[in-house]
Amino acid sequence: MAFNIVSFTFIFGLFLLFPLSCNSSNKHDTSQKSYHRQHSSSSFDQKNSDHTKGKWILLHKSIGISAMHMQLLHNNKVVIFDRTDFGSSNLSLPRGKCRYNDEAIKVDCTAHSILYNVATNTYRPLMVQTDVWCSSGAVNSNGTLIQTGGYHDGERKIRLFSPCNDEETCDWTELQQNLTVRRWYSTDHILPDGRIMIIGGRNAYSYEFFPQNSNTNYVFHLPFLKETTDPKEENNLYPFLYLLPDGNVYIFANQRSIVLDYTKNRVVREFPVIPGEKRSYPATGSSVMLPMKLVAGDFSPVVEVMVCGGANGGAFLQAAVGGFMPASRTCGRIKITDPDPKWVMEDMPSGRVMLDMLLLPTGDVILLNGASKGTAGWESAIDPVLNPVLYEPGQPDANKRFSVLNPTSIPRMYHSSATLLPDGRILVGGSNPHIRYNFTGVKYPTELSLEAFMPPYLSPHHSHLRPSNATVKGPVSYGQKFSVTFTLGVSQDMKEVMVTMIAPSFTTHSFAMNQRLLILDIVEIQQLSSFTQKITVYAPPSRNIAPPGYYMVFMVHKGVPGHSIWVKMQ
Ligand SMILES: *[C@@H]1O[C@H](CO)[C@@H](O)[C@H](O)[C@H]1NC(C)=O
Ligand SMILES: *[C@@H]1O[C@H](CO)[C@@H](O)[C@H](O)[C@H]1NC(C)=O
Ligand SMILES: *[C@@H]1O[C@H](CO)[C@@H](O)[C@H](O)[C@H]1NC(C)=O
Ligand SMILES: *[C@@H]1O[C@H](CO)[C@@H](O)[C@H](O)[C@H]1NC(C)=O
Ligand SMILES: *[C@@H]1O[C@H](CO)[C@@H](O)[C@H](O)[C@H]1NC(C)=O
Repeated sequence: MAFNIVSFTFIFGLFLLFPLSCNSSNKHDTSQKSYHRQHSSSSFDQKNSDHTKGKWILLHKSIGISAMHMQLLHNNKVVIFDRTDFGSSNLSLPRGKCRYNDEAIKVDCTAHSILYNVATNTYRPLMVQTDVWCSSGAVNSNGTLIQTGGYHDGERKIRLFSPCNDEETCDWTELQQNLTVRRWYSTDHILPDGRIMIIGGRNAYSYEFFPQNSNTNYVFHLPFLKETTDPKEENNLYPFLYLLPDGNVYIFANQRSIVLDYTKNRVVREFPVIPGEKRSYPATGSSVMLPMKLVAGDFSPVVEVMVCGGANGGAFLQAAVGGFMPASRTCGRIKITDPDPKWVMEDMPSGRVMLDMLLLPTGDVILLNGASKGTAGWESAIDPVLNPVLYEPGQPDANKRFSVLNPTSIPRMYHSSATLLPDGRILVGGSNPHIRYNFTGVKYPTELSLEAFMPPYLSPHHSHLRPSNATVKGPVSYGQKFSVTFTLGVSQDMKEVMVTMIAPSFTTHSFAMNQRLLILDIVEIQQLSSFTQKITVYAPPSRNIAPPGYYMVFMVHKGVPGHSIWVKMQ
């Protein structure tokens, strides 16, 4: 039950704030040389220069594929992939590698997956063998990405990607063993025992596990998934899934939600229907489990789920005939640990469908990507929402919880994604609302670009507050104390300090699977020298609260996080 510490000393934490902006540009800039850009004063640049509202950086004009699915691994590399059935990408596979099972072209010698290196901002092609389109995944307890399902030849596949230090050789492997049923648009979540639960999918009203339990049933029927399917539109795919402190699983689909005891295949609770619009694909909203505040010895912390955006029933069918209905503007929060829980509704600054919701190291939520009219699906949305929105769940004044941040210039429509990076930036990519790679002749071209959004806390104005040089010293185990030492540029009042632990998500179709943020209980803070602090916290008490695997631990000082450190809970 001990956890190994993978302790990185990230002295380049601060460095990241500046040099990458050399690559910074936006769509308007792409034809200009960088020295031209320094003199440019477009309204975009002016807006973007107000760091207190965040900053966008174009990491790559093209990574050769469209970032439909993303998973950050504990070696600070991100596995990214699109699909294998829509023609040649703009990135070649290494010489001699081709696939012969593409449905759009006979021989495809291009990549549909890459490995992105966060520290060096470089990437290399990976070889995925069968169609991973609209699939799902979760990282297991040893840090291996377990990716499941997809389309046609990929619909029952289980694929592994293990992080490697040897840049040249590690790649996808496909298992001989298959999923019990086809899973397309399903959701995965890691369980306390390290297994991955795979739930739902189109016409798949069931769940199963990986690895499979040899002497029990392989697949379990779940009528809830059928009941929440709307005729002709579905509106319940990619259900939102959260593992709860009691070991059960919360499942949200369409407008309903339940708690499932998967060990007995019994629905143990049902919650009120969320008011307003539909929330699941193609009426795609998003959701997070809000940060769980841990107190030593307490095995049942408060759990609050938040769901935002989506679309009205009928919006998908309307879009098919060219009518784009306004997206949902509402968010709902529900304390599912309350005996009589109710949805508390709030309005976002604007309507939004296909948004991504990510938990930030500070415990705030960022909402980004998506559109203000239409739904998910081919050519089914218009009017991108370019501004991310920050949501502060702990802000007592409801009118101050949302704030609008600086816009990107790149629409991120259907098939875009986003994930939190270990340095606190948000990696943003993808957008392909077409059946092929369409770069011209369409309103929203297939996007091969990769951007990073730097939330306000990364502003240079906050550099003096930023913790750096953090290291964890082991051994550490569930419920036990551990310490982090770190440096602050100047001697600081240590009252406003927070230690958060975040599980990296598998993000696709506006849902970050396995995302969870734990606010650790602080035991004491010691000043070791004028600039060095040592903070002692309790590790999460149980595998229900922190399922095994790798987490990013962030030191947050006055709302400013440093670079995270990876720890392994096992
Ligand atoms: C992808 O490659 C095609 C063909 O070379 C080119 O026309 C297109 O502009 C490229 N797209 C992007 C986004 O780089
Ligand atoms: C990690 O898990 C995968 C999937 O179960 C397995 O194939 C692999 O051997 C494991 N690796 C290690 C180092 O345990
Ligand atoms: C898995 O499915 C493939 C067909 O997609 C089949 O060839 C293979 O034999 C199956 N594996 C097992 C273990 O049944
Ligand atoms: C996208 O390109 C394909 C050909 O590659 C074409 O058949 C299709 O109509 C295009 N889609 C749109 C929306 O223009
Ligand atoms: C970083 O921490 C190590 C030990 O934890 C210390 O030796 C080193 O001086 C620190 N560096 C800075 C820049 O504070």
